[in-house]
Amino acid sequence: MKEKIKQLEKLRAEAKLGGGLDRINSQHEKGKLTARERIQLLVDDGTFQELDLFVTHRSNDFGLENQKFPGDGVVTGFAKINGRQVALFSQDFTVFGGSLSESHAEKICKVMDMAMKIGVPVIGLNDSGGARIQEGVVSLGGYADIFLRNTLASGVIPQISAILGPCAGGAVYSPAITDFIFMVKLTSHMFVTGPNVVKTVTHEEVSFEDLGGAETHASKSGVAHFVFDSEIEVLENVRKLVGFIPLNWKDQAPERDFDFTRDLTELKLDSIIPDTPNKPYDMKHIISLLLDDGDFLEVHDNYAQNIIVGFGRVGGLSVGIVANQPQVLAGVLDINSSVKGARFIRFCDAFNIPLLVLEDVPGFLPGTEQEWNGIIRHGSKLLFAFCEATVSKVTVIVRKAYGGAYDVMNSKHIRGDFNFAWPSAEIAVMGPKGAVEIIFKKEIASAKNPEEKLIEKLSEYIEKFTNPYIAAERGYIDEVILPRETRIKIVQAFQLLKTKVDINPKKKHCNIPL
Ligand code: HXC
Repeated sequence: MKEKIKQLEKLRAEAKLGGGLDRINSQHEKGKLTARERIQLLVDDGTFQELDLFVTHRSNDFGLENQKFPGDGVVTGFAKINGRQVALFSQDFTVFGGSLSESHAEKICKVMDMAMKIGVPVIGLNDSGGARIQEGVVSLGGYADIFLRNTLASGVIPQISAILGPCAGGAVYSPAITDFIFMVKLTSHMFVTGPNVVKTVTHEEVSFEDLGGAETHASKSGVAHFVFDSEIEVLENVRKLVGFIPLNWKDQAPERDFDFTRDLTELKLDSIIPDTPNKPYDMKHIISLLLDDGDFLEVHDNYAQNIIVGFGRVGGLSVGIVANQPQVLAGVLDINSSVKGARFIRFCDAFNIPLLVLEDVPGFLPGTEQEWNGIIRHGSKLLFAFCEATVSKVTVIVRKAYGGAYDVMNSKHIRGDFNFAWPSAEIAVMGPKGAVEIIFKKEIASAKNPEEKLIEKLSEYIEKFTNPYIAAERGYIDEVILPRETRIKIVQAFQLLKTKVDINPKKKHCNIPL
């Protein structure tokens, strides 16, 4: 037995070296960690339970039969993050550049299938040269097997992708189907076709970084939800994200202890909204004053910054925050912000995470660029997502709620559970100037002094409409609250809503406008 134990220990040690020390050194020289080092940083010490350490590829072409590495370029298994179970795979670039063979794909599929049965999130650490070229169509089939599983797992278990190296070709579509994509500045790239193919086809000269680097995907395409300077920060933040979300769609997000006896009055909230209605301010200031310990994990912080989305806690409960940002484009809703908001809302709803909406929105962005690119189609995604969501939904209108945007931003009419407004709220079909110029057009034009008439009508309109009280008279606003009371109100609301049940009609699936 002793000999057999020794032999197993030797095989294990060899397997854990992946493609060998030289390739490990070369990985480090590129500023990248190895697949196993990443797992070590990601999960709680001593919790990793590995699967398929001795799996190898089955290819006999191009001399591959003489190059077999146990594990075949991917480390898979289960582990714990802050004591909670997750499944993971971590591609090993030191073995054939982390490329995906038939066996490599089978390992990923196996751990995903088990994660679905057990009901735990899957975290993929991607670092791969794509399809294993020597295996041809078998490798393409392997990708398709993964895409199918990503799709079937969507909404059942959370799926998180960290891109920690190259990710090219159709391989980008597996991470794209998952819920969140993390990237590292300078060392991770995602593109359907690389710079060389781009040059051949479109004659454009573009670098790897500009085409598919982390900053490009964080700010231009919106493909990456989180970008950090180093792999270590990426892995730390994957851990943080896992702390806000449940293990599966039937589970609830972890709840933190909270002292309900402490005074939740926040006086600073009384002085954030400027006296001049068109003056911007930073909505993130309000967010940090409303969340427990001011702790906010922002999603997509560099993309469509006129809307803010992310996770925080209110009274110990994990919540998803959706807020307009008056500091960027006056907080208007446009194509990108609508899509960003909709995707986030659907994640929260799929995984029982309540929604807190902070509203200050002048409306949808007008113009040919928006209309021709389909603001109707894309704006309706945000509307659809809020309408469809059955999780607890609380709205606070802090200033503007104009036009269609009033309806869209989780109004009472589309199943907002608690809709609060600050006394500074302005709820109307449109802003004063636009409204007055339409409804009093003739009166103003025929007046002796049109300018004076305009001012008179403006103050009439402002007096009548730019407040929360007409909406409150109708019950569209449940309560007009002092800003300083907001924290108390939302903590109470989310506690009350913990047992809320709301069900959508039975169907095969909805048909969200895509
Ligand atoms: C087999 C591969 C490989 C691949 C890299 N390697 N990519 N082996 N299949 N796809 C191997 C190399 O032979 C090398 O082996 C080792 O991995 C490291 O590669 P290097 O080129 O030395 O590393 P580096 O200079 O860092 O460049 C990394 C790279 C480059 C940018 C990823 O290797 C590359 O361009 N690879 C091909 C990418 C690609 O076009 N893949 C197909 C995409 S299409 P040794 O033995 O020297 O260590 C696709 C279809 C998916 O994936 C379809 C889904 C629908």
